[in-house]
Amino acid sequence: MVGLLFSCRERSGHRIIVGVSDMLKNPATKYRPAPAVDLRDRQWPARTLSAPPIWCSVDLRDGNQALAVPMNVAQKLELFQTLVNCGFKEIEVGFPSASNTEFAFNRRLIEENRIPDDVTIQVLVQAREDLIERTIESLVGAKRVVIHMYNSTSPAQRRVVFGKSREEIKAIAIQGARWIQERLHRLQGTDVRLQYSPESFSATELDFALEISEAVMSVWQPTPQRKMILNLPCTVEVATPNVYADQIEWMCRNIRNRDCLIVSLHTHNDRCTGVAATELGLLAGADRVEGTLFGNGERTGNLDVIAVALNLYMLGIHPNLDFSNLGQIREVYERCTGLTVPPRQPYAGELVFTAFSGSHQDAIKKGLAEWETGTRSHWDVPYLTLDPADIGREYREVIRVNSQSGKGGVAYLLETEFGVELPKDLQREFGPIANDQVDALGREVRGEELKAMFWKEYVQRTAPWSLIHFHADGVDDLFECRASMIRSGNELALRGRGNGPIAAFVHALAEAGVPRFEVTQFKQHSLSEGEAASAIAYIQIRTAEGTTRWGAGVNTNIELASIQAVVSALNRL
Ligand code: KIV
Ligand code: ZN
Repeated sequence: MVGLLFSCRERSGHRIIVGVSDMLKNPATKYRPAPAVDLRDRQWPARTLSAPPIWCSVDLRDGNQALAVPMNVAQKLELFQTLVNCGFKEIEVGFPSASNTEFAFNRRLIEENRIPDDVTIQVLVQAREDLIERTIESLVGAKRVVIHMYNSTSPAQRRVVFGKSREEIKAIAIQGARWIQERLHRLQGTDVRLQYSPESFSATELDFALEISEAVMSVWQPTPQRKMILNLPCTVEVATPNVYADQIEWMCRNIRNRDCLIVSLHTHNDRCTGVAATELGLLAGADRVEGTLFGNGERTGNLDVIAVALNLYMLGIHPNLDFSNLGQIREVYERCTGLTVPPRQPYAGELVFTAFSGSHQDAIKKGLAEWETGTRSHWDVPYLTLDPADIGREYREVIRVNSQSGKGGVAYLLETEFGVELPKDLQREFGPIANDQVDALGREVRGEELKAMFWKEYVQRTAPWSLIHFHADGVDDLFECRASMIRSGNELALRGRGNGPIAAFVHALAEAGVPRFEVTQFKQHSLSEGEAASAIAYIQIRTAEGTTRWGAGVNTNIELASIQAVVSALNRL
């Protein structure tokens, strides 16, 4: 038998309820499946999204309620302005009856004329007379408002929180609707729209959600010209998103006077499917979406409205919200809320447009190059769902070298950190050598370590041959060289001729009895390392049997660097 024990501790304003338990062998003894909706002819799966919804930001209310330290008036004002700049035309600005700060915020917005004419502010209130009274007071003088009333309707809320029957819960909603209706005359000159939310809708029996919503409609009497907003929240996600879509479609098809309603979605993210539930809910017939920037909100958050908007954008549908400068929006959000946007947050996270994998980088590079040719009409770059530049971001590559890295990463680090520009074929040769050594270390390596590996493998190869002295003289294509070298402890003097210093050296080696080989590739460039400006030469040789090897030499004298590179290649045979 698995025991569950709860204890309660209080610490500086936090009550901590501790549960001690293990995961169950059979969770079905404790948890049950979400009930399916009986909607066999559901239409939403065959539909596609073709237009943006009406958006409503609830950052300043739902988002704010979930902050450890709620925003002060100055912070709310800054975030309000940012939301306006993004293009939100409906903004839930608070719960004015909940605190003086909330009330004062409303008053400042209105009295300081901070609300653009085409923006409607929305306020939340419970179905309680005193709270409705204060809410109406907070709105006097506003141009356009939505009064949003809610009460909880799910069986768990009815039983545990209110201890009331369905009828009694419905009576609360009807009474609240009447209290609001009776006070509307106090908002003369204000364009008022009304909104009702059966809170915890997605966990409420559909027939009851319908009954209570219609009861509120009977009081408010919406018309096609003067619609009311029916917000159907997924207050807590308890099922897969298709179930929410079924619930929305069922409501849209069964509620009376659908044409008098703006059906609105308000999802949270407990199962990490807030975005999916919203998108399916739109397919199911909803007109409007409530959410927050970056998904701030209680527990796992509200819907991330940016994600839904940019998901539409990448399908070619302008969301009517502007996130051209997502970085700046994120900065204001982080400053005002004290939260940070996680690095993998869709569209906005630090790492979203960064590729670590060599194969991804390669594909993206090719895709971007193709896009730049202008030959494609539509964006189709591997791994990038949209052009980062459209939202003020940039694509970045991060090169890290571990045993899984490709040769490209190794070459990139050597080039960017030390100016070592390995020829392509040398990259192919050194890549696996570096990978084996990194694998043996069992960790990522820094550029410095990688350079040491390259130097050890190529530049510092002095056995069995080591060069003591080299000198070449010549004109046009006739050169003579003299060299002294040590082989297995014995010093040898070499002489040779050729059409250049390298050819003369190769000839000298052959004369000394070294099996014949030819130089097949050669590259050199200057290398500025520390104080002494030096050069690096890369040389590939091929033996008579067809074996190829690369060598590299570094010297302040460019000619000597290439001769050392020949010796390095010889030593690597
Ligand atoms: O999550 C919710 O149900 C709410 C309501 C007040 C709409 O925030
Ligand atoms: Zn909510």
